[in-house]
Amino acid sequence: MKKKLVISTGAGMSVESGISTFRDAGGLWENYPVMDVCSADGFARNPSLVHKFYNERRHQLVSVEPNAGHRALVDLEKDYDVYVITQNVDDLHERAGSKNVLHLHGELMKVRAIDDDSKVYQLEPGELDTTPDTVIDGHHVRPHIVFFQEAVPNFEPATQIAHEADIFVIIGTSLVVYPAAALLQYVKPGTPIYYIDPKPAAVPPGVTVIPLGASAGIERLKELLKAQD
Ligand code: APR
Repeated sequence: MKKKLVISTGAGMSVESGISTFRDAGGLWENYPVMDVCSADGFARNPSLVHKFYNERRHQLVSVEPNAGHRALVDLEKDYDVYVITQNVDDLHERAGSKNVLHLHGELMKVRAIDDDSKVYQLEPGELDTTPDTVIDGHHVRPHIVFFQEAVPNFEPATQIAHEADIFVIIGTSLVVYPAAALLQYVKPGTPIYYIDPKPAAVPPGVTVIPLGASAGIERLKELLKAQD
């Protein structure tokens, strides 16, 4: 029976693929005020700007590749039952080959019907751009992204996965956005927790901090896990 290895990733996971983080950019996202392009109010105020922002991010995403860190997590599936819970909206974990990926903040390559949350559509590489006038399957659509001020529907299933972890790993997140940052609290007491981040945020005592970038940090993690076996 393989141990359950649960890995919670943030924007730092995609840095080595060339995608910038949120807070290293001084709170601006590709030069846009975040609340203009990633909040319910911002979307209501100027939907065209929000569509444009995510169109630009999709074009960037299809031009980059998963990095060695993403691939190292896939490699861990040989020895562990791996579950990835990510705050990232990119599809780099999936493109690297991770089988179990749960997105807390939505998925950039998907849109959903404005009048029916259950109708979600995958955008193909040739049709990355949407506008407020785009209609799919008879519905006007919006980015399938959890905006600030909106609920995080996948948080509850994520807490279940975290609770079942035999080993819990946090990679590349500043742990400032809730509820994602609270996942740590759902891990069973006594479960080994590792945190990989070159500029780690404060974490509770007992967490093993690996102050490295994602790919180097995961290699270090593998050494530590092997030593535990
Ligand atoms: N490898 C690993 N981590 C890195 C690297 C790297 N090469 N470079 C930077 N980091 C770390 C930073 O030190 C920081 O702790 O990645 C983290 C990025 O933090 P944020 O930019 O705050 O990203 P994240 O924590 O994922 O943001 C959470 O906030 O803006 C919202 O919805 C958005 O999902 C996002 C959420």
